[in-house]
Amino acid sequence: MLLEVRDLHVEFRTRDGVAKAVNGVDYRVDKGETLAVLGESGSGKSVTAQAVMGILDIPPGKITGGEILFQGKDLLKLKEEERRKVRGAEMAMIFQDALSSLNPVLSVGDQLGEMFIVHRGMSRKEARAKAVELMEHVRIPAAADRVRDYPHQFSGGMRQRIMIAMALALEPALIIADEPTTALDVTVQAQVMDLLAELQRELHMGLILITHDLGVVADVADRIAVMYAGRIVETAPVHDIYKAPAHPYTKGLLDSIPRLDQKGQELYAIKGLPPNLMHIPPGCAFNPRCPMAQDICRSEVPPLAEVDADRRSACFFWRECLDDSSRP
Ligand SMILES: Nc1ncnc2c1ncn2[C@@H]1O[C@H](COP(=O)(O)OP(=O)(O)O)[C@@H](O)[C@H]1O
Ligand code: SF4
Ligand SMILES: [Mg+2]
Repeated sequence: MLLEVRDLHVEFRTRDGVAKAVNGVDYRVDKGETLAVLGESGSGKSVTAQAVMGILDIPPGKITGGEILFQGKDLLKLKEEERRKVRGAEMAMIFQDALSSLNPVLSVGDQLGEMFIVHRGMSRKEARAKAVELMEHVRIPAAADRVRDYPHQFSGGMRQRIMIAMALALEPALIIADEPTTALDVTVQAQVMDLLAELQRELHMGLILITHDLGVVADVADRIAVMYAGRIVETAPVHDIYKAPAHPYTKGLLDSIPRLDQKGQELYAIKGLPPNLMHIPPGCAFNPRCPMAQDICRSEVPPLAEVDADRRSACFFWRECLDDSSRP
């Protein structure tokens, strides 16, 4: 087991009230495994990832409960200095927007090289050679020439490759990629995603891939965790979810993927909006939008129940959902 998040709770205390962003998240990632985390905007995907990385905005954020076990250690019990050593060297993060994550006044070679100087005690010259090597690894053409260029001199896709190179530099055991291709053109998205998936396999890293694009997930992920209102509502191996979802929210997400064989038909959309995190509805948070909701859903919170050894669903009626969505 590489990473296990247990019953994690995160709140944001603002002037307007307390936003309950993460409300008991459980997920795990094994060595060499890719976990895709899905869910609409505001469901707590990034906040959970920031808590794992130790980069949560505290205050206003506050971790109010849970454990984050990484390679056997509870990260929430480490001192900031120990935590900093884990970050970068043992786990690294790739963000959506490379331009604001890279330093605009340093050449990419200096930024990549810095990692080796600080963490590996290399000389400038050795670090520069490593930077070129990394840029070649993420297939940036003419890396030896471009190592002196600044972030703004690269295209969006190339910049995202540089972010990937930064994350990979120290060969961490875990990478968290938070919507890594969302800001890119569609054609470039696929190339960057392919590269990331290939490097993940080659280096046998754990990967948490946060995305709202179910389309890319099928090709790259081993498992899926679906989030809603700060909880995991379903988690299962990818092929099980595609075959038949065991949660109405997952089913809604799947039904809203555009399909080539349904061209021209109106696309399904889950009705309504995600809840206000300062006023999450009682019972199942999804109940106001759920086509299968019953009375119990409005008063009791469904536990994340075991569907089978490898699968969980937080729905009282997962059996009905599974039967209903099984395709012959
Ligand atoms: N810095 C912050 N200050 C206040 N509230 C925040 C902050 N970051 C996140 N939140 C709250 O947490 C919720 C979940 O955010 P996030 O995890 O970023 O969602 P997503 O699933 O889209 O990544 C947001 O809707 C917001 O209410
Ligand atoms: S518990 Fe009820 S409201 Fe929630 S997803 Fe299941 S059927 Fe829908
Ligand atoms: Mg996010």
